[in-house]
Amino acid sequence: MAMSTTDPNHHNLPMANGTLPGGVGGLHVRDFFRGKTVLVTGGSGFLGKALVAKLLRDTQAKRVVLLLRSSRPKKGQERGMSPRERLEEMLLTDAAFEGLTEEDKKSRVCAMRGDVSMPRLGVDPEEEREAGVAAAGEGEVVVFHSAATVRFDEPMPEALRTNVEGTREVLRLCNRIGSR
Ligand SMILES: NC(=O)c1ccc[n+]([C@@H]2O[C@H](COP(=O)([O-])OP(=O)(O)OC[C@H]3O[C@@H](n4cnc5c(N)ncnc54)[C@H](OP(=O)(O)O)[C@@H]3O)[C@@H](O)[C@H]2O)c1
Repeated sequence: MAMSTTDPNHHNLPMANGTLPGGVGGLHVRDFFRGKTVLVTGGSGFLGKALVAKLLRDTQAKRVVLLLRSSRPKKGQERGMSPRERLEEMLLTDAAFEGLTEEDKKSRVCAMRGDVSMPRLGVDPEEEREAGVAAAGEGEVVVFHSAATVRFDEPMPEALRTNVEGTREVLRLCNRIGSR
């Protein structure tokens, strides 16, 4: 699900043919993202990784921010990896990110701690500002919401918290940053 904070009715989203409707006709998807901050939830997932790599490789988005939670500790470890450590590892080892420049990896992508099953996405307001999400001007942040549990045997309360409440929290975030 992609949401532009420019317009609550999403009328400014790119169309499948790569152009934007209404008043900005002819604008290509590549141009749509130029200079924008893109926030991605679920960026460590199957779909999210491909999306993040595509945004970095094929658009001139200023910055891609991944809302990530810490990983669970592996057997024998005291703690899991922090969101920042997870991102570093992904960029280093995941085939999806092969071929990206060191500059892109260093300066165009960052992690923001968050958990979509928590109120306010569990995001620290200070970190939100540092990531350039809250501090961006109105309409300057594009949000892709791809965090979800896709397990069919997930207990219902957990599935609802992540998939339903999580989506609601992402919409609240869009409202919050779009209304600036
Ligand atoms: N895969 C497909 O072919 C496909 C096709 C159409 C639509 N979709 C939809 O795309 C979405 C993602 O699917 P996927 O296949 O990429 O799933 P996936 O590989 O299981 O990835 C799920 C992502 O959501 C994150 N996530 C889950 N719970 C979270 C939480 N509480 N807080 C923050 N992040 C959380 C996971 O983070 P962790 O790494 O921390 O677990 C992971 O990044 C789903 O809504 C799915 O229905 C997928």
